[in-house]
Amino acid sequence: MRPTVLGIETSCDETSVAVVADGKIASNVIFSQTDHSIYGGVVPEIASRNHTRKLLPVLREALRDAGVRLEDIEGVAVTSGPGLVGCLLVGLSAAKGLAWSRGLPLVGVHHMEGHLFSGFLEHEDLRPPFVALVASGGHTDLIEVVDLGHYRYLARTSDDAAGEAFDKVAKLLGLLAPGEPTMGGPRISELAKSGDPSAFDYPRGPLDEFTFSFSGLKTAVLYHLQKLSAEEKTRLKPDVAASFEAAVVDPLVEKTVQASRRIGVKRVLLAGGVAANKCLREDMEVACGDAGLSLHVPSPILCTDNAAMIAAAGSYRLERGETDGLELNADPRRPLPGIDTGAGA
Ligand code: KG4
Ligand code: ZN
Repeated sequence: MRPTVLGIETSCDETSVAVVADGKIASNVIFSQTDHSIYGGVVPEIASRNHTRKLLPVLREALRDAGVRLEDIEGVAVTSGPGLVGCLLVGLSAAKGLAWSRGLPLVGVHHMEGHLFSGFLEHEDLRPPFVALVASGGHTDLIEVVDLGHYRYLARTSDDAAGEAFDKVAKLLGLLAPGEPTMGGPRISELAKSGDPSAFDYPRGPLDEFTFSFSGLKTAVLYHLQKLSAEEKTRLKPDVAASFEAAVVDPLVEKTVQASRRIGVKRVLLAGGVAANKCLREDMEVACGDAGLSLHVPSPILCTDNAAMIAAAGSYRLERGETDGLELNADPRRPLPGIDTGAGA
């Protein structure tokens, strides 16, 4: 029997608390902030204040949903970085307070290791070695999971992250609605459904297997939109969205399959917010099938930020006796633990 762990995630604009018991989700409550859209992106100060306001109600709901009391919790896992420092500190303070008052072990989880561990919550058959594409708003990392806690970068982005490109292009297309989350990905995806992905041939970034690049793509869309009349812009919006989406998805799929083949790994995990993208999930499924690779993709709710993945990674660390003291601090640029820096990109 594995421990009952409380997870806390506040690294950006989702306030989330979860209970993972014996490696399975008992509850996973996520509050997505909606007051950043009018600013065109997440405002750190507003995000931290919202976490302060929402964390305790979300915590109570998570305990209630799981049907457990604080006395049943055996460890506390909290995102300690990377992320927005003021946001991380809210989660950390709550986690430390809980751990101290109940005498519980505490562990600071790396946000991207959390995304990696989202893969184990629903797929008990997922075992290392595998290749993980973790694409979010801040990262686009192709990682060889040599073993649990032992990682190698196979490819990373040289500029914008894939999710960041979705967010910026959503803003260019005027898709960020007030009162809704700032995630541009779902808005683009929705619009792209009625568009033609081959309407415009946007750049796919570098040809080599070790680097992603999405900043040129975003600029290409910007210049293209600037050349269109107001009428054309409205009429062609779905085609722009679909062509842009294809230009992000193609290199993600291609490099994942190429790298997996090169290193001879047979299993692939898709994780991070961008993994919620339907087009990416479908294209990756087809490409992995053709290449004889088995693909594991978490449910969309476990791809975007959530505390269940933090509790899952924390559970693994706690079981290895890896705990942190109350001096644990937020590290907005925390490097991935267990990363082998001698190889890959
Ligand atoms: O992992 P995540 O929730 O937060 C970070 O760690 O950054 O990822 C959020 C990112 C955002 O950039 C968002 O636009 C993108 O994931 N995203 C999507 C979709 N859902 C979320 N991108 C494309 N299609 C989606 N359906
Ligand atoms: Zn994330």
